[in-house]
Amino acid sequence: VTGVLVTGGTGKTGAALVGRLRGAGLPVRIASRHPATADPDAIRFDWGDPSTHEAALRGMDRVFLVPPVESVDPLPLVEPFLRRARRSGVRRVVLLGSAIVLPNAPSALELAAQVRAEPGWVVLRASGFMQNFLRPHPLGDRIHRLGEIRTAAGDGRVGWIDVRDIAASAAALLEDPEVRAEDGDFLLTGPESLSYGDTAEAITVHTGRRIRVRRIEPDEQAAAYRAAGLPAGFAAALATVEDGIRRGREDRVSTTVLDLTGRPPRTFARFVSEHANEWRAN
Ligand SMILES: NC(=O)c1ccc[n+]([C@@H]2O[C@H](COP(=O)([O-])OP(=O)(O)OC[C@H]3O[C@@H](n4cnc5c(N)ncnc54)[C@H](OP(=O)(O)O)[C@@H]3O)[C@@H](O)[C@H]2O)c1
Repeated sequence: VTGVLVTGGTGKTGAALVGRLRGAGLPVRIASRHPATADPDAIRFDWGDPSTHEAALRGMDRVFLVPPVESVDPLPLVEPFLRRARRSGVRRVVLLGSAIVLPNAPSALELAAQVRAEPGWVVLRASGFMQNFLRPHPLGDRIHRLGEIRTAAGDGRVGWIDVRDIAASAAALLEDPEVRAEDGDFLLTGPESLSYGDTAEAITVHTGRRIRVRRIEPDEQAAAYRAAGLPAGFAAALATVEDGIRRGREDRVSTTVLDLTGRPPRTFARFVSEHANEWRAN
């Protein structure tokens, strides 16, 4: 046994994973740009500062990899890290990838291909996160402020997944790095696929607050994302993704969470009932 370097270790998925790995008695190292000084397992790590990578990897034989967020081109920052991980004998990398492929972002696909190519290294292709419906995500923020979901996805459905089920699946793959890597690629979804209309109805039922869905066109959505501060290329890519959802591209579910963890993934209804207070107007 050595241990698991958890990049994005302070994020939603990474923090849930750290809790699970600690519960299983595995040593963890929590990577962050702002490591908690009180936590001896925390280490400074920045994708943009390669000088932080070696110390983060030292002595660790497994890695949970959360690539740089809000980037359509993660490869230049992650590739040198992967080389270093190979050299230092990392047995398993679990990449938090996405089921949704951003247009004009071949770099993310190439990153996934590089991870899959290494024996024992695996890619999680995660569906849309249920936690996007919570603040501080822009979707959750808008629901909270205005009681509204604004989308270009129409009635298209997504197999929304709770990040805790991603963390549980990653934990299963990291606790025993020898197993379950046959094809190196796992599509991770919740138990059912739901449209934004379905999700709005679930929140309405559990909170008593009526949540509306406002349908807009992809170009309006891109403009809204830019106005919210996203880089233009990323805003356009996200809007195109919503158009893909409208066409049914993300309407799929898998049994991966059950297969890896022995437990079915959480339903959207359960997620909503657990977080109902967060959407009540105040
Ligand atoms: N939202 C979705 O529907 C969805 C679906 C599929 C896949 N994904 C993928 O999931 C990932 C996000 O996962 P999450 O939601 O669990 O994370 P999150 O809560 O958004 O947190 C982001 C994490 O990344 C770290 N981070 C940000 N910039 C960094 C940098 N320059 N160097 C090192 N670390 C950095 C942050 O750490 P510090 O701030 O502490 O440094 C934090 O731990 C993204 O790659 C996204 O593409 C999302």
